[in-house]
Amino acid sequence: MCGIVGILGQQDVASSLVDALKRLEYRGYDSAGIATVNAGALDRRRAEGKLRNLEEKLKLTPLHGTSGIGHTRWATHGRPVERNAHPHATDRVSVVHNGIIENFRELREELEATGVVFESDTDTEVVAQLLTQTLGHINDPVKAVEAVLPRLRGAFALGMLFAGEDDLLIGARQGAPLAIGYGEGEMYLGSDALALAPFTDQISYLDDGDWVVLTRKGASIFDAANKPVKRAKVHSAAGAYSIDKGNHRHFMMKEIHEQPEVVGRTLAHYLDMRQGEVALPDGCKVDFSQVDRLTIAACGTAFYSGLVAKYWFERFARLNVDIDIASEFRYREAPLTDKGLALFISQSGETADTLAALRYAKAEGLKVLAVVNVPTSTIARESDYQAPTLAGPEIGVASTKAFTCQMTVLACLAIAAGRQRGVLSREDEKRLIGELMAVPALMAQALKQAGAVKKLAHDLSRVKDVLFLGRGTSYPMALEGALKLKELSYIHAEGYAAGELKHGPIALIDEDMPVIVIAPRDNIYEKTISNMHEVAARGGRIILITDQQGIEEADMPDAATIAMQAMPSDFAAIVYAVPIQFLSYYAAVALGTDVDQPRNLAKSVTVE
Ligand code: F6R
Repeated sequence: MCGIVGILGQQDVASSLVDALKRLEYRGYDSAGIATVNAGALDRRRAEGKLRNLEEKLKLTPLHGTSGIGHTRWATHGRPVERNAHPHATDRVSVVHNGIIENFRELREELEATGVVFESDTDTEVVAQLLTQTLGHINDPVKAVEAVLPRLRGAFALGMLFAGEDDLLIGARQGAPLAIGYGEGEMYLGSDALALAPFTDQISYLDDGDWVVLTRKGASIFDAANKPVKRAKVHSAAGAYSIDKGNHRHFMMKEIHEQPEVVGRTLAHYLDMRQGEVALPDGCKVDFSQVDRLTIAACGTAFYSGLVAKYWFERFARLNVDIDIASEFRYREAPLTDKGLALFISQSGETADTLAALRYAKAEGLKVLAVVNVPTSTIARESDYQAPTLAGPEIGVASTKAFTCQMTVLACLAIAAGRQRGVLSREDEKRLIGELMAVPALMAQALKQAGAVKKLAHDLSRVKDVLFLGRGTSYPMALEGALKLKELSYIHAEGYAAGELKHGPIALIDEDMPVIVIAPRDNIYEKTISNMHEVAARGGRIILITDQQGIEEADMPDAATIAMQAMPSDFAAIVYAVPIQFLSYYAAVALGTDVDQPRNLAKSVTVE
């Protein structure tokens, strides 16, 4: 979490730092700040809350200087107040940090024992104080950083600026991403290439343990053993993506509407449409016939896409699937087999829990396949096979288009696995591909339900608790529906397997409890509808999502309904994601919450 940026420029850098922070705000947004070196002295401006508060402050008291660093924060240590906002500084050094310094308490005690007085509650300030103390003995910023870095434990990316050094910016990476950008007589540092896209498309990514000394002439990179190393300069495509809301009020709405296009683009990458078969692209040509168990781990919405995929891999490929939340998988000491394949799913490719699970699986000798949206991310780079989702940058904190693209890629992989393992015939594969190819158009139809869903969401915004029910692949969709509603509207919601309700949660049902039933007409539709009637018999208010025939067959005139197009059920989960996303979006809008940046969250969760 947190986004960092650094610039060695030719003109005042304050406004460029703020522009870069706008592109990093998805990584955290509870406070922000920038620092510059101006006439040799360090100065900074910080503000609690969103970036616009910092902008206001900068209008009143501008900050000059051609070298600077910036930060947008997701609090880990210390409340999100100005005192804890980055950059953390002394008169000699200013520091921005993403991640956690795990041994900060011990370092802080050590520094306090020598008389150092801290002004914040953060872990980051120890870096500024330690550097300042070290500069007292070694009056050389580069040597001071070299001495301090081995003392820091944890996961971090750092940007460091020094008083009296207008042509020096030092960065360090240990477990949190950091990119270097090359300009014309200018140099940049940033948490990702997207932040640097307005300035340059020439990027190098630091490896774990690397640190870098930037001057306007270029970058000197060192590894953890302080040996000079070269890291490839690559062309970043991040600038090709416009980061604006188009005609929409929120990024989330724009991203919901992009889904037919990006799911179509993703399909085109994985399918030979003329032959009606999956053609796995270079980089992810996995031989599933040699795999005896698939172990999936991911977090949040990405985990739910994996849960949907479990049904597909088991049904289409008769492949054993274990699935776990990444933060649990890593510590439960699951026995893994030599012929197993580990599959990790992540939009950002930087989620700390997923990355830790990946490294655990690799250390256990498993081959690793990653479904990721950011191809240059750590998870993508550390995997044996990369299966990209072509969703483009997702800015809304709640995942929408990345989720449906994840399911799309996973569907293609499951079909490929089915063919390779001799489970699917040529005809089966053709039929499934035909169904998949219809998904973008069905999603476009589903988008037309916005108005109808808005009315229902308005009613939903007045309640305190909501249940989502589904069976089969609609069960993970029920979980996803509940997660989306919670994170966006702050309404308490739970997702349940419809058949499980009678084993306890049905006790919650009364006339105040809306129950959203996700029931595409599949082989278990009738069972889901029976469960729905059990709820209705106890006074629960039903919102039924199915097609017109499903609505008629359900025979429940009192139920509110969202009518979907009729469709084969195999990949209905991808299409049914749309009304579920609309429900939480419109409930949030009705309640006036911050749709794109819900409270307490960040898009890229780089702490465990
Ligand atoms: C919810 C949401 C999160 C993410 C989760 C994993 O809308 O977006 O639950 O899915 O934090 O993030 P990635 O996919 O970046 O690993």
